[in-house]
Amino acid sequence: MDALSNRMARLSSVADDKKLKLQEILQPLYLSEETIKRIMDTMEEQMRLATSKDEATRKKSDILMAITHVRCLLDGRENGDFLGLDLGGTNFRVVHVNLKDGVATTNTKYYSLTEEVLCGPCAGVFDFIALSIEDFLKQENLITSEQKLPLGFTFSFPSTQIALNSAILLTWTKSFKCPDGVGQDSVKLLEEAISRKSPNLPVDIVAVMSDTTSTLMAGNYLDKKCRIGVILGTGSNAAFVEHLENIEKYTGDFKEPKQVLVNVEWGCMGDGGCLDFYKTEFEKEVDQYSNHVNSFTFEKSFAGMYLGEFVRLVLVKLTNQGVLFNGQVTEELATRWKFTSGFVTEIDSDKGSDTTKTRQILEKIKVEKLATDEDVAIVREVCDFVVQRASYIVAAALAVLIRHVNLPEVTVAIDGSLYEHHPKFHNYMMELISQLNLHTQVKLILAKDGSGQGAAFAAVAGLRQKEENIVSA
Ligand code: BGC
Repeated sequence: MDALSNRMARLSSVADDKKLKLQEILQPLYLSEETIKRIMDTMEEQMRLATSKDEATRKKSDILMAITHVRCLLDGRENGDFLGLDLGGTNFRVVHVNLKDGVATTNTKYYSLTEEVLCGPCAGVFDFIALSIEDFLKQENLITSEQKLPLGFTFSFPSTQIALNSAILLTWTKSFKCPDGVGQDSVKLLEEAISRKSPNLPVDIVAVMSDTTSTLMAGNYLDKKCRIGVILGTGSNAAFVEHLENIEKYTGDFKEPKQVLVNVEWGCMGDGGCLDFYKTEFEKEVDQYSNHVNSFTFEKSFAGMYLGEFVRLVLVKLTNQGVLFNGQVTEELATRWKFTSGFVTEIDSDKGSDTTKTRQILEKIKVEKLATDEDVAIVREVCDFVVQRASYIVAAALAVLIRHVNLPEVTVAIDGSLYEHHPKFHNYMMELISQLNLHTQVKLILAKDGSGQGAAFAAVAGLRQKEENIVSA
């Protein structure tokens, strides 16, 4: 990371005593090379434990390394109409994918889930999905089809994958707080909702998967060197293509292709304490007031749901210590979760001496009258620093996967609002990856809406696996 002394030197307009205080408050957030290496070693060890054939060993790991049952990647020769669903954030997506002669034509519609549905009984969530599919099929005139449309369902919550079309929910995450649903099969819940709300829907649920899996499928359709899918949005996670012989716990067949997509579920790394070595007071406070306390430790250091709150806590501390805004914490600044990651994206979008966007955000938190030029410069530096740290943390884990995949060239498909919209995440991630000298030529690509389109691709893969009787376990 950029040394804090260099950062302070850049703040030429800020008084020395303030710089000293600022440096002191930011120091615990600084990631040394040694800390990065320790994050990588931890991730590697967690992966090893989680793939063991011995259950007691697996339990020592916080991450899942779930075998997704997706074995086939698309080769461009597939044809037909497929549906993808994408549930994970507050926007639910239905996607129609038409495959013809190597070209995928995609049509997507977004449906917004209300706070009430997100916090109510889970039947409400699945009813909403069933009704949205019906609405989509009607609007797209797909309801007339004689045949049922094969459907892939991206369900982005940690689940135990039983079969390609069966996954048991382990916990809700992000903004979902339904009191029930845990321990139930998401495909069954959807089928029940369809029979309740729209019994004649012409769909056949072929596959259920995490958004990382579908993003990887979508990325691989664009670029055959894509072996890893990452989500960097509200939450975060990764999936990669693994050789069957590398997964000790794998008990399925060894037919070609001798590979399966593995869903890492890295968001919960650290829940058992293995990341305590870098956790700061800010991580602890973000966690304490989050929807799911004491869980999703890793994700809370950098994902979109938490990054804004993380920055807010740093700004509040700086204000309380007299470094910012004449020591006055406004009600807006004091309100938890009000400072979103979108605000951080805006602030980091100001280029050079232009401070327009930063000032607009300061207006939103009602500090614009208190904010001097010095304050504006400090706020920008804090956002940049926290974002560099966040990007390095996620890139360190990604680097372990890249090293593990062990190919001369690897493309990583990334979907998610944080990666897509934040102007610096990509560059900072690449910065760390190149510093690490992985002996792999790495390309990070945006797979926009990949998780919806890729869900349909997984349905295609599922049909082929069924035809060829390929069984994973
Ligand atoms: C969930 C993962 C998901 C990730 C990205 C996390 O909170 O646990 O299953 O892949 O968010 O959406």
